[in-house]
Amino acid sequence: MTSKRLTVFASGTGSNFIALHQSVQKGIIPAKITAFITDKPGCSARSYAKEHDITDYVLRPLDFDSYDAYVQKLLTVLEQESPDLILLAGYLKKIPDEVIRRYPKRILNIHPSLLPRYGGKGWYGHKVHHAVIENGDQESGCTIHFVTEVYDDGPIIAQRKVPVFPDDHPDTLAKRVLKEEHTLYTEVVKRLLEQD
Ligand code: GAR
Repeated sequence: MTSKRLTVFASGTGSNFIALHQSVQKGIIPAKITAFITDKPGCSARSYAKEHDITDYVLRPLDFDSYDAYVQKLLTVLEQESPDLILLAGYLKKIPDEVIRRYPKRILNIHPSLLPRYGGKGWYGHKVHHAVIENGDQESGCTIHFVTEVYDDGPIIAQRKVPVFPDDHPDTLAKRVLKEEHTLYTEVVKRLLEQD
């Protein structure tokens, strides 16, 4: 039995979260996803966590008296969960600096572009794919990086490229990139856990 623990943060559909969980279930990732954290109580990713008996937490600044109280709660939850890695999988809220400082090189993010292109505050999901097509780029892809205090700026761990076709629409490009995201995230998490 593995004792490595993963906490996943997501805000949306959760296809990366599902892919990671399936890799855990197949024994490809030597760890357990012990906690799921979201800022969107109604997101599909949370329903998946509930259906699969993964402890879920909704943590949003608006539910606390102050931003500091929210940060303290997040730190307490993480301390209890004691994750070896924290995986952002389509999580759209900024992770507070205090949390980032507490878990150096332990928080990973996946981004749907070849960073540093189309990265930083405001760049997420379909906005990225739309801009790639508008700009006539011939390739795009995804990046996994360590999370630092600056959005999408931490050290890059891995990237994977995909072609952009002349008749692409943001949806078709998103689908091609997501397919690579799913396999790349599993490979990176497996490698980091095995190195640990
Ligand atoms: C993914 O494409 C991920 O790279 C992106 O959101 C999507 C989430 O999809 N993340 C960002 O844009 C972060 N800046 P999913 O909910 O199906 O995993």
